[in-house]
Amino acid sequence: MMSRSGAVIFLVQLLVAAQRHNVRRQFQSTLYGGGMEPNLHTDADKYQAGMGSWSKTLAPLFIEFIDGIKEGDRVLDVGCGTGSLTFTIADTTKASTVVGTDPSVGYVEYARAQNSHPHVAFEIGDAQKLPYDNGSFDSCVSSLMIQFVSDAHTAAREMRRVTKKGGSVATCVWDNSGGMELSERFWDAAVAVDPGAKRPGDRRYGSASALSELWIASAFANVETRALVIPMEFSSFDDFWSLLSNSQGPPKPYISNLSDDRRQILKERLRTDILGNRPDGSIKLHAKAWAVRGTVPVG
Ligand SMILES: C[S@@+](CC[C@H](N)C(=O)[O-])C[C@H]1O[C@@H](n2cnc3c(N)ncnc32)[C@H](O)[C@@H]1O
Repeated sequence: MMSRSGAVIFLVQLLVAAQRHNVRRQFQSTLYGGGMEPNLHTDADKYQAGMGSWSKTLAPLFIEFIDGIKEGDRVLDVGCGTGSLTFTIADTTKASTVVGTDPSVGYVEYARAQNSHPHVAFEIGDAQKLPYDNGSFDSCVSSLMIQFVSDAHTAAREMRRVTKKGGSVATCVWDNSGGMELSERFWDAAVAVDPGAKRPGDRRYGSASALSELWIASAFANVETRALVIPMEFSSFDDFWSLLSNSQGPPKPYISNLSDDRRQILKERLRTDILGNRPDGSIKLHAKAWAVRGTVPVG
């Protein structure tokens, strides 16, 4: 039986915990549109200076693969981030409207600040509950997003729902079997110096078969996949390290949680793995993404 003072202390602790939870929720809802799940993506400048710039290189290859954006089309870019794909669609196709949607308030504000196109708009939204009516778009695309969503099947079904019959729906994800050399080299080194290091779980859709299964399970027709490969170049090892440690992806939290000593051990291991015996200088890697496309069945 709890004493009276014990009960009072318990009640106070409960109130403090509830208050903390509330403050955290309020803080999260300023980072991710109200009530949406928190994710890694909050700092738009850092993302754009790092991985976001590679998204821009990837975007034209992805659009060429989609091969279904026609003059006058309304296109939705789900998980648009800072807008690399959205802007490339606006610049290279004759779509009449391009809407980018993302839960990260910081990314959406960044994209809005860059936008000079009257036919492009950026909105806060969750891929798993898209705030659009059935069949509102001619085409729906998504670059490097589906692996971050807790329920990719729901997101794929939502993309199909908001797309007109016969319209194309496509996504792409970095390869998970060695083709995304930047993250592969990083996690190889991390696992070699730290037995507790775990390759991130966001790699689950990084293969042609996983994406194709996801699209077939989501009832798309004419499902096709393609490997998209881009070069990734760094001016020096420090340039390479700086991208990893500032990235908005999984390496950053891993690196930030290491002690200074362990961070240095990892950095030196990576330097040796990448440069070998040659002097510091430019580093050339490749990054492969897998893309899948399908159409919304007409019948
Ligand atoms: C690696 S970034 C890719 C951004 C952009 N598509 C690009 O190619 O640069 C992953 C994006 O997925 C978004 N994201 C995460 N969870 C999401 C969700 N549930 N719905 C929509 N987007 C989501 C993040 O906010 C982030 O902008």
